[in-house]
Amino acid sequence: MILKCENINYNYGKRKVINNVSLGIKKGQFTGIVGDNGSGKSTLMKILSGILFDYNGKVFFENEELNEKNRIKIGYIFQNPENQIVGVTIEEDVAFGMENMGVPRKEMIKKIQWALSIVGMSGFEKRDPNTLSGGQKQRLAIASILAMDPEVIFMDEPTTMLDPVGRLEVYTVIKKLVELKKTVVIASHHSQDLRDVERIIALKNGKIIFDGNKNNFYKTNKLNIEEPIEIRTKKILHMNYEELVNKLADRT
Ligand SMILES: Nc1ncnc2c1ncn2[C@@H]1O[C@H](COP(=O)(O)OP(=O)(O)OP(=O)(O)O)[C@@H](O)[C@H]1O
Ligand SMILES: [Mg+2]
Repeated sequence: MILKCENINYNYGKRKVINNVSLGIKKGQFTGIVGDNGSGKSTLMKILSGILFDYNGKVFFENEELNEKNRIKIGYIFQNPENQIVGVTIEEDVAFGMENMGVPRKEMIKKIQWALSIVGMSGFEKRDPNTLSGGQKQRLAIASILAMDPEVIFMDEPTTMLDPVGRLEVYTVIKKLVELKKTVVIASHHSQDLRDVERIIALKNGKIIFDGNKNNFYKTNKLNIEEPIEIRTKKILHMNYEELVNKLADRT
């Protein structure tokens, strides 16, 4: 397990929003976190990535309790791309985290080039981030995190604020992160974002109500999450003619 938590409880004031959650994430595993609004997805991911730390329970990164040092290995991409841009140019933005880490300049330049190439933005170095589309801004946010060499990357509804084109752009980059063997955890309401995850963790009122294989989730889920198209199509292919006619007749 690259990341693990035990008996996490978290309150906002008197309200319990994470209720005794324990889980482990294997290195390289692509995981989706789902749940209704307010079920605790963002709170749990912020705890697991060391952004929120006034919780009860324990979080371990590679068997060591999460601390100031090892939390650098865990990146977090927020929902709104606007809120995570700090640089005046794109290269400055990507450099920001590395500067804080004290990465030598030569290495920094290499890392900027590499990270921008991964998100398909080579040649954008001198551009003003304000001139970017939503999808590009989110890709820039990913590049900035990637340049810091995280092992685990949490993404909190990274495509929610985007139009279909931006969503596809960002999803293509997410797939690349998975190919790079990063451990990616994505919270999403969009089945499109979840089509390739191996595992789904579903939360309800701060509790895990499902943790397992994606296809089993869609067989049993009681949340308001539609099935990905390929599962729907497969089901249709398995129907006999009569079933299909009945199904279509249901659609008025
Ligand atoms: N800063 C805060 N102060 C007080 N309560 C909060 C705060 N942030 C979140 N909450 C509450 O904690 C609960 C869990 O919120 P959280 O944002 O983790 O849910 P979520 O599953 O990410 O929801 P969404 O799908 O809307 O993003 C909600 O009831 C929310 O109102
Ligand atoms: Mg959220």
